[in-house]
Amino acid sequence: MNPPTEFIVLPSGLLAHIALPLGVLLRKRGNLHCVLECQGGACSLIGDALRSRGIQLMRMMDRVYFAVDLHGKMAGCEEFFDSIGAAYYELVDSDRNTRCANLLMELALQSTTSDLVGSVLDFGCGPGLVALGVQHLCGAIVGYDASAAMRELSHSNGLRILNCLAEVESGAFDCIIAVYVLHFGLSDECCSELYRVSKLGASLLGNCHKSVGLELLVGKLTTAGFSVREVDSCRMEFGPILMASKP
Ligand SMILES: C[S@@+](CC[C@H](N)C(=O)[O-])C[C@H]1O[C@@H](n2cnc3c(N)ncnc32)[C@H](O)[C@@H]1O
Repeated sequence: MNPPTEFIVLPSGLLAHIALPLGVLLRKRGNLHCVLECQGGACSLIGDALRSRGIQLMRMMDRVYFAVDLHGKMAGCEEFFDSIGAAYYELVDSDRNTRCANLLMELALQSTTSDLVGSVLDFGCGPGLVALGVQHLCGAIVGYDASAAMRELSHSNGLRILNCLAEVESGAFDCIIAVYVLHFGLSDECCSELYRVSKLGASLLGNCHKSVGLELLVGKLTTAGFSVREVDSCRMEFGPILMASKP
């Protein structure tokens, strides 16, 4: 069977009304969310139908759309990454993610006097290949991902992995990188945890793909205690790059 051309994660209640009449191929996942695989123009048709119901379809990856409701709540991120497992590699341009990680590390290196960044957390590490690609620039690097399947994949690829941020002592990291993660949105609790595990003077660096949720995110990181700025002139390829420092 050919790989699907597009995935859409939708709250299941919408399926009977929208997805099935449009003739999409449906794969049900649990009773909360569904992954739809649809061809060609179906995405924009579904997008129009959803907009009239107060739900926006956001393109979070090249062929992956998530439904976001009026309150900015996104359904199914963790379930989605748990469900795709190794199919992840078909959905992302790994070279672009690696280039982005290298840029973040270059920026991190600019604020040290050393050749290495020190202790680094790759937050939202996915399958871990990006972290492994920049580990030569770090004293040490460890990954964390909300998806258990991604944590397993990272571990099997050879990256040291955290199962949760709570297991980390306060002030453990000199730098946190987040490659194609921030646009999925961070909870208030998560921002506070990232602040807690950062050393004084440490930075969290991440790109915000297509600026999705940028303003909300800057607000949350600021509330958590970070001093946040956008790195000028880096927007072109990866979206705005945020540098959040722990003062
Ligand atoms: C597009 S993938 C990028 C993975 C990896 N950084 C890379 O570039 O290959 C986004 C990853 O972020 C993770 N993620 C999204 N929101 C997260 C959160 N709040 N906490 C931890 N991981 C998160 C997802 O589970 C997924 O593995």
